[in-house]
Amino acid sequence: MYSIDSPLSFAAESTPDAPTCRLLLGDSRLALSQLKDESFHTCVTSPPYWGLRDYGIEGQIGAEPELGEYLEDITGIFREVRRLLRPDGTLWLNIGDSYTSGGRTWRDTDKKNPARAMSYRPPTPVGLKPKDLIGVPWRLAFALQADGWYLRSDIIWHKPNCQPESVKDRPTQSHEYLFLLTKSENYYYDHAAIVEPTQDGKATRNRRTVWPVNTEPYRGAHFAVFPPALIAPCIKAGSPVGGHVLDPFFGTGTVGETSLRLRRNCTGVELNPEYAALAETRLQKLRLPTLAL
Ligand SMILES: C[S@@+](CC[C@H](N)C(=O)[O-])C[C@H]1O[C@@H](n2cnc3c(N)ncnc32)[C@H](O)[C@@H]1O
Repeated sequence: MYSIDSPLSFAAESTPDAPTCRLLLGDSRLALSQLKDESFHTCVTSPPYWGLRDYGIEGQIGAEPELGEYLEDITGIFREVRRLLRPDGTLWLNIGDSYTSGGRTWRDTDKKNPARAMSYRPPTPVGLKPKDLIGVPWRLAFALQADGWYLRSDIIWHKPNCQPESVKDRPTQSHEYLFLLTKSENYYYDHAAIVEPTQDGKATRNRRTVWPVNTEPYRGAHFAVFPPALIAPCIKAGSPVGGHVLDPFFGTGTVGETSLRLRRNCTGVELNPEYAALAETRLQKLRLPTLAL
């Protein structure tokens, strides 16, 4: 099995200048400390959300009993990410919200959505009530801002095909956040690479902050995968062709595959060997030259 000391590497093709993807199996809290300062153009990632998913492995982020502990853990990992980014580097961080558990200590599965099953539920944070929306994305964004990041944009990931919810006392949640954070005041951002069509479709304009992107079905045993269409603009705006992208919560390796397709190099860290194996199979299959994503 590969590890932090002996990562797996994949090349998109066999030419000498082909982009490569390096996969490290381990805890980001340790793995990132072993990587070189200022070696990445951008970080595109989705950390586990607090108390929302059970990835079933010791050391997983997101299972902290206290919200403050979760925010500290994530802020610590992104402090390390900031060291790894070039001075003009960017962080694109996807994060979703959750509701307080109202005293329940577990959550049953359901047929349509097996990912709902949870063997733990965190207690209601001090100051919040049962049924409160916790506001995790903004709490995290402010914690990162206080830790030194420049908070440059909130982007709404609108999910037109979101999961139905059996609620009748609030709207069904159909969005998540994507935050653009930067290491410095001035940074690499290729706005021309991600322009969008104007309303009449006759010209292009600067990308807006609401991105409608359908969710993708589960990939094997993993249930929180990125749609490539959500992250392709982040990779294109955040790094040049031949640049280097980091994902400290690699999961099934969507950032790796999308980076290779866009001819960027990638390094990913994943704690769970089962998900790392899914990423490995996925990257091994990839022998494609550039795709316009
Ligand atoms: C939201 S998922 C990422 C999914 C990924 N974007 C994809 O498209 O497949 C978060 C991932 O972080 C991993 N994880 C949890 N704690 C971790 C840690 N301490 N170090 C590295 N990975 C961790 C989980 O196993 C899970 O696969």
